[in-house]
Parts: sequence; structure tokens; C-alpha cells
Amino acid sequence: MKILLAGGAGYIGSHTAVALLEAGHEVVVVDNYCNSCAESIKRVEELTGKSVVSYEADVKDKAKMLEIFQANSIDCVIHFAGLKAVGESVQKPILYYRNNIDTTLTLLECMAETGVHNFVFSSSATVYGDSSNNPPYEESMERGKCSNPYGWTKSMMEQILQDAAVANKELSVVLLRYFNPIGAHPSGRIGEDPQGIPNNLMPYIAQVAVGRRDKLTIFGDDYPTPDGTCRRDYIHVMDLAAGHLQAVEFAVQNKGTEIFNLGTGTPYSVLEIVRAFENSNGIKVPFEFGPRRAGDLPAFWADASKAREVLGWRTTYTLEDMCKDTWNWQKNNPQGYRK
Ligand code: NAD
Ligand code: WQD
Repeated sequence: MKILLAGGAGYIGSHTAVALLEAGHEVVVVDNYCNSCAESIKRVEELTGKSVVSYEADVKDKAKMLEIFQANSIDCVIHFAGLKAVGESVQKPILYYRNNIDTTLTLLECMAETGVHNFVFSSSATVYGDSSNNPPYEESMERGKCSNPYGWTKSMMEQILQDAAVANKELSVVLLRYFNPIGAHPSGRIGEDPQGIPNNLMPYIAQVAVGRRDKLTIFGDDYPTPDGTCRRDYIHVMDLAAGHLQAVEFAVQNKGTEIFNLGTGTPYSVLEIVRAFENSNGIKVPFEFGPRRAGDLPAFWADASKAREVLGWRTTYTLEDMCKDTWNWQKNNPQGYRK
């Protein structure tokens, strides 16, 4: 199949591109590099020995996107192209609603106009909301009240896609709710490359380890958890990428909307992650405790049984793999993709 990856130069998109190419699919990437660079795609080509058709374009640009759809006979779209910084979304809600929702609508319009029927969407565990659902989260739970505009964009886009699939019986929509993706390709050639101060835990730890930051601040030590720090369901990006391959195969064989959690089902605390990183890599990560971060929940993790049963998807990478592969990427690319 020929699969269009909107936002495919980013962290999850580039790893998914490797998984799709290795499975024998063709990949077309559209990215405006607002949070990535073309180097990741070059490295995907180098890792797989296959070529990727790539366009530098804004997915909101309907005329350009239509040209791209017309020039390529696309079988399935995977939509990664979103802004994802939770704190920034509180400061710049309009930017987030415009970018995340407009990209989705533009892709749906181009698909309708060119007869493409399969859509896989990067959703997030954030749609389960801030207190109405108790973990482990199951796909059958109602979406909850999100604590920030980023989360609401995901929740709204899920609704838009579900409505589109109700109206168009030809359409197949797979909503993938990622938990906390970390790690990198075991080669250390592609990985997560945040710009500025990392918002997320693992990239921050990696930058402390490589000497770009002095110490980690752990946000809160008084949560109602065994060690007082928050617990999350961390998943290796290679397992996540494999989930996309299975989701694409599912999409082409089924109509309507299906939702899958992509997580391991096992939560770890912030302190456990710090210790695992130190022990896996034999490197110290200095840290201090700071106040809680607004909007953080004490603990959540996936019920991952649906993806296992319906897609036959299983996670295969351990927490040690996640820590080792993160460090392998960071130490070989201390400044990310920038030289
Ligand atoms: P990323 O920022 O590395 O990748 C997103 C890519 O989309 C970037 O390459 C960016 O340049 C591109 N992009 C954004 N807006 C665009 C536009 N208008 N036109 C063209 N390209 C555009 O992020 P990621 O971690 O790979 O996340 C991919 C998707 O998964 C996002 O939608 C994100 O919200 C979602 N997600 C991520 C996580 C996570 O923790 N990384 C968790 C849940 C969901
Ligand atoms: C994990 C834990 C922090 C940084 C976010 C989004 C979510 C999804 C995944 C996109 C928390 C703690 C973090 C630091 C810390 N993304 N932490 N010091 O918040 O679970 O999820 O990314 O959809 O929507 O909200 O991930 O990596 O930011 O935090 O102590 O410097 O690490 O408090 O407990 P989170 P995270």
C-alpha cells in the first residue's frame, strides 16, 4: 500500500515510516517541519534502504494537499501532524485549535475528493479526561473533561472523525490513543528531538544525562502513589510504530470507527523511570523535587487488551530497552538532528 504520513518527519511518524517501509509499504511524507527537520526522513531512508517521497507543505494548505493526493494514489492516511505541547496550548489555544483541527478537516476533504477511505489518527490518552475515568483506561469509557486545549483538540478531532465515518459508510477510521511514548530506534539514528526545554520526562532525563541540563525537577512527591510521584504507562516508540502497521491493515479491512489504546498496561512512577535510566545506562541523573505541575493526574495506564485481541498487537520492548535506546539516541546525537 501507499500510505501518506501527515507529520511523518516527527518523532512517532519517522519510526512508523521505518515500520511501514520494512513491511513492504510505500510511504509519502508531508511535513512543514514546524517541529522536525528533513534529516529524520533521510535517516529513515538510510536505515531501510528504501526511498520516501516527501513534501515540505502545510497540511492546512488545501490546494497543495489536493495536488499531493492527486499525484499519488494513496491507500491510507496516518495523521500525526499536530502541535502537542500541553503548556503552550494553554497560552496559544487558537493556534492549537486552528492547526490541529484544520489539518484533520483538510485531510478528510482531500480524501473525499480523491476517493481515499482509510484514516488512522494519532489520538492520546489525554481524551480520557481529568477525573471522570479510573485507570486502567478502557476504550469503552466516555471521553472526559480535558485539562488543556491540546487535549480538547484530540477529543474534538475524535468526534469529527467519528461523525465523518457515520456519514460516509465507505470510510474507515482508526483512533489510536497513545499513552506515553519514549525510546528510539535501536540504531540510535532516529529519535525524539524536542526544541527548547523539553516538556516531557524522558527527553528531559536524556538531556540531563548528556549534560545539556543540570538536573531534573520531579514535579511533586506527595501524590497518592506508592512513592509519592506520578505513574504513567510508558511505551517504546518501536512498539507504537508496529501498532500503526497493524492499524493500517485493520483499517483497509473494516469500515466505521474503531478505537485502540496503545500502551503496555503497566505503570511506572517518575522515580522508577529515573532509577531505570540510571541502572540501564550506568549514568547518574541528578534530580530535585519541585511543586506539582498543573493538570497532572496522579496515575493512569492502559487496558491494552483490545489491541492485543483485535489487532494481535503486543508490546515487546522492556523499560530497560526504552531507557537504553533513549540514551543511545541522545549520546550519539547530543544536539538532536542539528549538527
Ligand atoms: P512531533 O512534533 O515530533 O511530530 C508532529 C509532526 O507534525 C512534526 O514533524 C511537525 O513538523 C508536523 N506538523 C505539525 N503541524 C503541521 C502542519 N500544519 N503541516 C505539516 N506538518 C505539521 O510529535 P510526535 O510526538 O511525533 O506526535 C505525533 C502525533 O502524536 C501528534 O499528533 C501528537 O499530538 C500525537 N501524540 C503524541 C504523543 C507523545 O507523547 N509524543 C502522545 C499522544 C499523542
Ligand atoms: C510524565 C510524568 C510529570 C517532566 C504528556 C501529555 C499527554 C501525552 C503524553 C500527547 C508526569 C513528570 C515530567 C519533568 C517531571 N502527549 N515530569 N519532570 O504529562 O503524562 O503526558 O505527554 O498527547 O497528553 O500530557 O507526560 O512526560 O510530560 O510527564 O517530573 O521535567 O513526568 O509530572 O508525572 P504526561 P510527561
